[in-house]
Amino acid sequence: GKTMKLVNNGLQKLNNLKWLKSAGIEYYCSEKKDSKNSLIQTLKELKINEAKIEPHIIKPTKPQPVAKQEQTALTNNPLIAEARALADKATSLDELRNYLENFNGCQLKEFATHTVFSDGVANAPILLLGEAPGATEDEQGIPFCGESGVMLDRMLESINISRKTNAYITNTVFWRPPANRRPTNTEVEICKPFVEKHIALIKPKLIILIGSTATTSLLGKKAVISEIRQNNYPYINKYLSIAIPTTAIFHPAYLLRQPSQKKNTWYDLLKIQDFLITNISEFQ
Ligand code: URA
Repeated sequence: GKTMKLVNNGLQKLNNLKWLKSAGIEYYCSEKKDSKNSLIQTLKELKINEAKIEPHIIKPTKPQPVAKQEQTALTNNPLIAEARALADKATSLDELRNYLENFNGCQLKEFATHTVFSDGVANAPILLLGEAPGATEDEQGIPFCGESGVMLDRMLESINISRKTNAYITNTVFWRPPANRRPTNTEVEICKPFVEKHIALIKPKLIILIGSTATTSLLGKKAVISEIRQNNYPYINKYLSIAIPTTAIFHPAYLLRQPSQKKNTWYDLLKIQDFLITNISEFQ
């Protein structure tokens, strides 16, 4: 009896270790080495995450209007109206880029070196939408060319997506926020007309929303990645005649801080690959 118990405990520990390894967790544990209960805590967290991996059905989140007061402030904002007029006028990517580069209505531009417009293939079936340029992006004028970008490229490469061949990449705001803070709602709304026209000019067959800023900007405030991941939600704006399916993934910068979420993201990527093979001729 006692021996069996010892063997079983040993096996259990071994399985846990294997499981941790498969979740890429060695690094995570070593980060928490000094915490007495870190391994147990990590296992608990992982078990919760693993439960979430099961396919789950969530009602589509309708785009939610921002709070009423804020909404009024935003609709009366002349800077948004100015952005809208320019976006309305643009009939090509070159025009849109030109209008954007000459637009001074977003305060972020004052601190930025570059307007970071886009990278990738203009007629791509996939459009990737990030949050905002970081330091490297601001320096080089290219979205996702820093540390997060390297990781994003690797994630995409694993399911045959690349900005060199089949993806177009841009951000929710086009200038780096000081100290990499999150863009404010007003900054997002001022840039939004450009984003909307941008999407309409590319007319992708799938939009991948990278991180929560991109997700809430397009799907509304109630769209929470941990709840809507692995599902597709339709997106439409005034420049589109048909809705485009979207899917949201965790931001690579978040995954760099929370490596335990990488495993979940791997399942999300597999789901995306499945969608591509089923729905998009370029991937069949
Ligand atoms: N993070 C983003 O969201 N976008 C970038 O372009 C770079 C980092």
